[in-house]
Amino acid sequence: MFRRCFWFFYSLPAGASKWLPLQASDLADDMDRLIHFLVFISAVAAVGVIAGFVYFAIRFRRKSEKDQTPHITHHYLLEFLWSFIPLLIFLFVFGWGWWLYDEMRRSPPGALEIHVYGQMWNWDFVYKTGRRTAGTLYVPVNRPVKLVMTSRDVIHSFYVPAFRIKQDVLPGVYTSLSFKASKTGRFQVFCTEFCGTGHAGMLAKVQVMSLTDWENWLKTDPYEGLNLVEIGQKVFGGRCTACHQITEQRGIGPGLAGVFNSEREFEDGSRALADENYLRESILNPGVKVLKGYGNLMTPFAGLLQEEELTGLIEYIKTLPSSDPKE
Ligand code: CUA
Repeated sequence: MFRRCFWFFYSLPAGASKWLPLQASDLADDMDRLIHFLVFISAVAAVGVIAGFVYFAIRFRRKSEKDQTPHITHHYLLEFLWSFIPLLIFLFVFGWGWWLYDEMRRSPPGALEIHVYGQMWNWDFVYKTGRRTAGTLYVPVNRPVKLVMTSRDVIHSFYVPAFRIKQDVLPGVYTSLSFKASKTGRFQVFCTEFCGTGHAGMLAKVQVMSLTDWENWLKTDPYEGLNLVEIGQKVFGGRCTACHQITEQRGIGPGLAGVFNSEREFEDGSRALADENYLRESILNPGVKVLKGYGNLMTPFAGLLQEEELTGLIEYIKTLPSSDPKE
């Protein structure tokens, strides 16, 4: 409807936006036209205000000591116009934004539903078949998708710039987001609600594939042909990288190189050897033994990992060598 009413804005070339992110959903072009309109109208207003200011400063400058400012009270027509014209512009922008917002919320019947979970500080995705992925959301191109989203801890926000969509993800309630990807490829996901120390690292990708590729992907075993260490490495890439380095360098959490078989000291002063049991406990229930100098920040992964993923992670951490020459 809007497109037809305001055909003028849709007759302008769309691609003239080198300064905006790649457009990869059917909503992106509409959104960019609104942004361009806002920038254009703001530029016109800015130039008008500055030009008027310079003109008045010169035209009405004080010419002699005796110059008196005339006594001006009001001017009905001028006052009406400078209120009414901006009002029309703002209402127009409001209508346009409303229409876009509605497009963004609406998901056609038959949209493909995928569940999204946010937690400090990673994203995971559950598909209708029961398939799970962490760190990458897989979707088919040109198919309406509805994300049903919730958080396991605090408020996060799911944002895909290339799709021009964003929605808060809240604990204890579902929010949703709809889109139709228009390009295949990999696109960045950000968390855009400050959710703690690891907020900036709370990243993921959307992988857009052809429908056939996506259907085939859905049937594959994610860990087929991988050994335990490779499974662990894959899980690590999707789940752990916001907080843990694979070197000894401290991140939000401890660096993991050389942890296995080292002695760990905890907040309560106790110590333990980092064997498989310790690693397992630290992944599933990290609050039980909090490493000295680190807060109890990590999401408990109990219930979030399959047994082979957990074993894989432990085996992967065991392969990370200590760089300390003494050991
Ligand atoms: Cu999650 Cu910011």
